[in-house]
Amino acid sequence: MALLDGKSLAAELEASLKNEVERLSIRPGLAVIMAGDDAASKIYVGRKEQACQRVGFYSEMVYLPADISQEALLEQVQVLNQRSDIHGILVQLPLPAQIDVTQVLEAVAPEKDVDGFHPINAGHLFNGTPHLVPCTALGVMHLLKSQQIPMLGKQALVIGRSNIVGKPMALLLLQEHATVTIAHSRTPNLAELCLQADIIVAAVGKAKLVTAEMVKPGAVVIDVGMNRSEGKLCGDVDFESVAPKASWITPVPGGVGPMTISCLLLNTLQAACQSLALSGTRG
Ligand code: GUN
Repeated sequence: MALLDGKSLAAELEASLKNEVERLSIRPGLAVIMAGDDAASKIYVGRKEQACQRVGFYSEMVYLPADISQEALLEQVQVLNQRSDIHGILVQLPLPAQIDVTQVLEAVAPEKDVDGFHPINAGHLFNGTPHLVPCTALGVMHLLKSQQIPMLGKQALVIGRSNIVGKPMALLLLQEHATVTIAHSRTPNLAELCLQADIIVAAVGKAKLVTAEMVKPGAVVIDVGMNRSEGKLCGDVDFESVAPKASWITPVPGGVGPMTISCLLLNTLQAACQSLALSGTRG
């Protein structure tokens, strides 16, 4: 078993981003909107802000009250869409219950949509011409590629069908010519599907769902789970039992999580460079 070390790969990525920013004529700017006071979201948003500071990006956190109206939230997005110093906009999910999430995500200018959640960016990914790609799925691809893990012709199983991780993950693996299966909460034969998989990406949010008996010897196991139990972070994979059977496995924490953040920075840099190219002043 070898560890797919997201923490160190993310640090490498950040170092090269920092280098690129220093040579750029503008400072990439990221705005993060957060509505309400979800405890986990606060931690994630804080990490995004710190990451921006580490690589020299401008960052702006927009904290809004939990009872904010749809109109007021849309207005905030519009203001950020218009700002030339903001190249990336991220609306932290989940949003309060009164908010129409789809409408908010569709209000973000596609060229600033560093989460890749706008239907235009989802459509580009669907068509096989990705522009801005959801950060977690992108981070997993970077991890796999960092070790030249073969995907072509491999059986890949994505557990989870969310727009945030599962669906984009499946499309990216498909683009690398894997044979992709998507399993979800209504899949009756999960263990059987897992046993056939060369690559498993677990992204359901169920602690220790994937156990050793479900994993083929030599499989690559990617754990996207971020489950909190008794104050401890725990993935969707039972790391202790699965690790000895896997060829590669991501730990939680220190696997996919740090890669999500560095890919957000990567997307923000991409959006900033694109805006420069469009204004014809890239220097
Ligand atoms: N909440 C949980 N994961 C994510 C993510 O990747 N992006 C946003 N915006 N919110 C999230």
